[in-house]
Amino acid sequence: MYLYQHEFLPKDELRISSDDRGYYFGDGIYEVFRVYNGMLFEPAGHYERLERSARDVRISLPYSIDRLDGLLRQLIELNKLSEGIVYMQITRGAAERTHAFPKQAEPILTAYCSELARPLQALEHGIAAVTADDIRWLRCDLKTLNLLPNVMAKQAALDQGAQDVIFHRSGTVTECSSSNIMIVKDGELRTHPANHLILHGITRAVVLRLAAELHIPAKEEAFTLDDLNNADEVFLSSTTMEITPIVSIDRKPVGSGAPGPVTRKLQSAFEHLIG
Ligand code: PDD
Repeated sequence: MYLYQHEFLPKDELRISSDDRGYYFGDGIYEVFRVYNGMLFEPAGHYERLERSARDVRISLPYSIDRLDGLLRQLIELNKLSEGIVYMQITRGAAERTHAFPKQAEPILTAYCSELARPLQALEHGIAAVTADDIRWLRCDLKTLNLLPNVMAKQAALDQGAQDVIFHRSGTVTECSSSNIMIVKDGELRTHPANHLILHGITRAVVLRLAAELHIPAKEEAFTLDDLNNADEVFLSSTTMEITPIVSIDRKPVGSGAPGPVTRKLQSAFEHLIG
């Protein structure tokens, strides 16, 4: 079952307007929530980010957060989802194509859930990444539907035999195509500050919280491609990929070429958290 506008419907009964501004302009925002044991993981962080995305792109949310939370929980129940994700998007509405905001249109909410296993193979062995220019706009902190640069870069990485891309702006590392990135050097964690150049990942915040609990020093400070190449450990963080080690970058091994001890510590604390 999908949640579309104000109804729960089977997927093939959805009637989506071809005038939805999501199609014309990517004019909308979204969230991806993790579901563990039938429960939303870190929902407050997602709702807070959703509210900020909505405010800054000037889309009004169709429901209060309380009501939305109730609907998403109902969606999970209706679909009997235990392990997976909830995807939710809100577009500015459906109207004849003009760039200016339409006067009449109501925001359109679509949400569904799907089963998704934890990425156990990647968590255990790590993945290969390649670096690429970050050619995105300057509001990467907003979770909008405009993902073409991310999509292009991800595919280019796959075409090169890697699993993901690490973006940099003139040598300053920002994040990956759909995750944040952290490095470890001499036992210290480092990640790009949560400003307009990266998405403020919910998993990133969880990792920083776990690092504090584990007394792992952490700095939210930008780092360069040189720092990346000289790091002892590198990992990415996201709702779907959790804490995934990056074991090679541009075909060169990271550290020993295997997931490192700080990454492992954080992974096991994360595992404990999701129970
Ligand atoms: N992506 N950076 C980007 C560009 C992202 O798209 C995401 C999430 C993250 C990590 O954020 P979080 O920890 O809140 O998932 C960072 C989602 C999973 C997606 O688009 O599928």
